[in-house]
Amino acid sequence: MSGVNKNIVILISGSGSNMAAIAEAARTRRWEARLGARVAAVISNKAAAAGLAWAREQGIATAALDHTAFDNREAFDAALMAEIDRHSPALVVLAGFMRILTPGFVQHYEGRMINIHPSLLPAFPGLRTHQRAIEMGCRVAGASVHRVTSELDHGEILEQAVVPVLPGDTAETLAARVLTQEHVIYPRAIEKLLSA
Ligand code: GRF
Repeated sequence: MSGVNKNIVILISGSGSNMAAIAEAARTRRWEARLGARVAAVISNKAAAAGLAWAREQGIATAALDHTAFDNREAFDAALMAEIDRHSPALVVLAGFMRILTPGFVQHYEGRMINIHPSLLPAFPGLRTHQRAIEMGCRVAGASVHRVTSELDHGEILEQAVVPVLPGDTAETLAARVLTQEHVIYPRAIEKLLSA
C-alpha cells in the first residue's frame, strides 16, 4: 500500500478494545511518521458503544449511525459508505462491527477492508465461535485477521493467533484469552498492509 496520508477508518459496535489496540499501536509505533498512516475516524452503529467515547477522548473523529433508523440494509450501508468516504480511507477496519454488509458495500471497499474473527478460520465462521470450539472438544482456539469478501468470514487470511483451550474453560474465559491475542495480531496485520 503506497503513498502518504493513508487514512484508516475503524468500524465498531461495542467495547472497541481492538480499535483501541490499533489506535495505541498507531501512536506508539509512530505510524504517521513512519508509514504516513493515521486512524482518521471511528464509526459505530451504536451511539452508546463504549469505544466511541474512548476514541473521542483520544481526539479521533467519531460518528454514530443508528442502523435501526434506516428502512433497510441498503439504505444503512449507503449512509455508512458516505460517512466512511468523507475520510477517503486507504483501509477500512472492521473491529467487532456486528452488521452483515451488503454486496455493494463489500464491493466498494474490495481490497481495502479487513476484519478480525474470533476463531481459527476456516473453522467456525459466524457466531458463538468459542462455545462451538469448546463443544467440539478443540484443544486450541484463536483468532484470524482476514480480508473481507462477499462470503461471510472468508477471504484471504492475513494473521492468526493460537491459544490453548483449557480444562474448565467457558465461552467467556476462552473469549478473554483469545481477545488478548487479537490485540496483538490486528495491529500487526495492519502495519504489514501499510508497509507493503
Ligand atoms: C472480538 O472478539 C472480535 O473478534 C469480534 O468481536 C469482538 C470485538 O471486541 N469480531 P472489541 O469490540 O474489539 O472489544
